[in-house]
Amino acid sequence: MAKTPWAPGAPALAAAARAVEAVVFKGMSADAALAASAGCADRAPVQAITLGTLRWYLRLAPALESLLARPSGVPEAVRALLAVGAHQVEYSRNVPEITVHAAVDAARILGNARATGLTNAVLRKFVAGRPALLSRVDEDLAARTAHPPWLAQRICAAWCAAGVKVLEANNAHPPMTLRVDLSRSSRGGYVSLLAASSIDALEIQWSISAVTLTHPVAIGALPGFSEGTVSVQDAGAQIAASLLDARAGMRVLDACAAPGGKTGHLLELAGERIDLTALDADADRLGLVEQNLRRLRRTARLAVGDARDPSSFWDGRPFERILVDAPCSSTGVIRRHPDIKLLRRAADIPALAATQLAMLRSATTMLARGGRLVYATCSVLPEENEQVVAQLLAAEPGMASVAMPDTAALAPGALGRAVGVQLLPGAEAGTDGFYYACLEKTTAGS
Ligand SMILES: C[S@@+](CC[C@H](N)C(=O)[O-])C[C@H]1O[C@@H](n2cnc3c(N)ncnc32)[C@H](O)[C@@H]1O
Repeated sequence: MAKTPWAPGAPALAAAARAVEAVVFKGMSADAALAASAGCADRAPVQAITLGTLRWYLRLAPALESLLARPSGVPEAVRALLAVGAHQVEYSRNVPEITVHAAVDAARILGNARATGLTNAVLRKFVAGRPALLSRVDEDLAARTAHPPWLAQRICAAWCAAGVKVLEANNAHPPMTLRVDLSRSSRGGYVSLLAASSIDALEIQWSISAVTLTHPVAIGALPGFSEGTVSVQDAGAQIAASLLDARAGMRVLDACAAPGGKTGHLLELAGERIDLTALDADADRLGLVEQNLRRLRRTARLAVGDARDPSSFWDGRPFERILVDAPCSSTGVIRRHPDIKLLRRAADIPALAATQLAMLRSATTMLARGGRLVYATCSVLPEENEQVVAQLLAAEPGMASVAMPDTAALAPGALGRAVGVQLLPGAEAGTDGFYYACLEKTTAGS
């Protein structure tokens, strides 16, 4: 192996610091920030260090700031590097002194040679004083669970004692869960195929198609993945297609389709016998739907358009089924996307709720009489969920809420709401957070 002038691990720390800086200080998503390291040999450790640091950033940053005379005077890349180093010290099994040594070299790699002394001094103080430093930080629930105060406050206000469990579950490592295409393989048969590849997996009892792996693997290692026998999808997300209950001959709209997880599931459940339009406002993301369907050997009509404006894509013929899996705060999937805690702002929520309501109102105009509309989000905030549906029902007398399956059967620990059902991270089912409501058009009006 070629010898580098740097301490082992320093290039990975530097790459992770660049990605953390891009998310925390420039507002980039972690996926976009990590794209820069996509081709490098250290890609897996860089990704793990970056996501781990982002997961715990809001706990580590206050501890580090208490060690800096003037945090705002420290270059952003160095502040990101300090967080990366502190994350390695607190959350990895690496020897702390070796991490500090590597972080000092990482400062040089980042072009901040003048910050090597500060990096060394701050991280050494962190190593020596972290029990006291962190216990001070941990007196505050939001900081202890590394959430922005506004979000911790809203989650606790919405879910009381379960709110703390949500905050804690948001920092857990998510399971890798699969959806088996039951038209191609029985679930038990697929679990046997996994076992033959030495991949341990469990069937999730309350779901008909979900399988959770004991340890995540690369998708390329999954038998039948490239042929579409199986897809990666949280068990909570697998509820959407069965709630929609699309049957042979129906015209179906998947109004926010990309990247196509639920589009594929709808087609697997109903075969090619439904006439499915997969709509998305983002043409690039719609390309992901196309790729997904190609892998699954399924087809749908793909359309670029705005779900709030039927004239942008609709031919005027009503749909018997519409799924609105709306853009949302994604506060239910923080364990998979810890950058959400750093990117989302309180002010985003009313804007998202307005978009969600506009999408639902537009969907009602395209829905056939007696037709079903399923509203889904991966948010845990009532402002984006039941409150949006309540506003729709108040504004559209022709729409009514449909009885949903018993919550325990839907997913253990799911919470029945005044309208719809909420799944929370940390609940018995072990899923991400989702909200679902089933609505029906009762009259020819609107
Ligand atoms: C939560 S994601 C959908 C996930 C998808 N249903 C799945 O299961 O893979 C929301 C999607 O809504 C799309 N979107 C945002 N605004 C939209 C609009 N006005 N009309 C249609 N799609 C929109 C986004 O591009 C994004 O792909």
